[in-house]
Amino acid sequence: MAAASSGPPDFIAGLPKCELHVHLEGTLEAALADLLAERHGLPVPDGGTVRPATFDGLADFLTRYYAAMAGLRTEQDFYDLAAAYLDVARRQGVVYAELFFDPQAHTARGVPFGDVVRGLRRAQVDAAASGGPDSALICCFLRDEPVELAAATLDASLEFKDWILGVGLDSDERGNPPAKFAAVFERARSEGYRLTMHCDPRQEGSVAHLWQCLDVVGVDRIDHGVECVADDRLVKELARRQIGLTVCPLSNLRLYGTLMADVVRELLERDVLVTVNSDDPAYFGGYAADNLRAVADDAHLDRAALVRLARNSFEAAWLTQGRRAAYLRQVDEYAAG
Ligand code: ADE
Ligand code: ZN
Repeated sequence: MAAASSGPPDFIAGLPKCELHVHLEGTLEAALADLLAERHGLPVPDGGTVRPATFDGLADFLTRYYAAMAGLRTEQDFYDLAAAYLDVARRQGVVYAELFFDPQAHTARGVPFGDVVRGLRRAQVDAAASGGPDSALICCFLRDEPVELAAATLDASLEFKDWILGVGLDSDERGNPPAKFAAVFERARSEGYRLTMHCDPRQEGSVAHLWQCLDVVGVDRIDHGVECVADDRLVKELARRQIGLTVCPLSNLRLYGTLMADVVRELLERDVLVTVNSDDPAYFGGYAADNLRAVADDAHLDRAALVRLARNSFEAAWLTQGRRAAYLRQVDEYAAG
């Protein structure tokens, strides 16, 4: 990883990549939020919705994120949300994506689980049939809601098991450690789901939460996870187990004032399966290629490091070995070409 130019920006856009950490509700651009509000006769701010440039940490962001979802009501709304995201993702070089959605944020407002998932699924099928990307769904539980609601959401998901690859844990981490949800995740595993959990930056107990993910829950992947660098043994264990970390630089910048690009570089150097992702791109100012570009510029990553990050994204994805190998070939051919 020499300190060299990352090359022309189109190298990054064209690099075949996989998005592993994007909340579909976090792809709700202000213009679509306004269109949905008009569709449902809800108030639209004068001059349209304006999103703040920065947030005062995770809780501040989450308040705005949930408020903005009011216009997501029907199956068609969820179709429009996912179709818009997948179109942008394709143009950013994403060929495969594993997509978070937050059903509890909708069922709590009276939207049926099935309407959410059918709308998302229809958009996924249409995108896959018209230039990509291919994608799969990850059903997230809200960790700041009672465990019983996570369990009920798991139950509701089972009818749609064929469309859902795994489960995740997101929302406000404060006082809501991974271990609190261990039993729900154990049941999710027994139903055949893959497991991931958020360990957001700058949280109280971040390092302890990361260890719980490994040793109490036994996750397959960790979302964010950057605070692992505070614990040498933890970094070594993540590298040994090849647990994918889905780091989100522009999210870090808008929430905490730093891209944490140096952490991405350090994790690459220490053989952790680190990946670069976009989290809530409609709020944080950039999608998959934008995040890669920001890290490359800030940490002076060369092409070899960028190719490594693209390869890591497929290595950390929940793909069959055949599909993984095909995507990795695509990356290698692009890098060689
Ligand atoms: N939900 C949406 N974005 C999130 C994030 N960055 N952390 C936790 N929960 C989220
Ligand atoms: Zn996230």
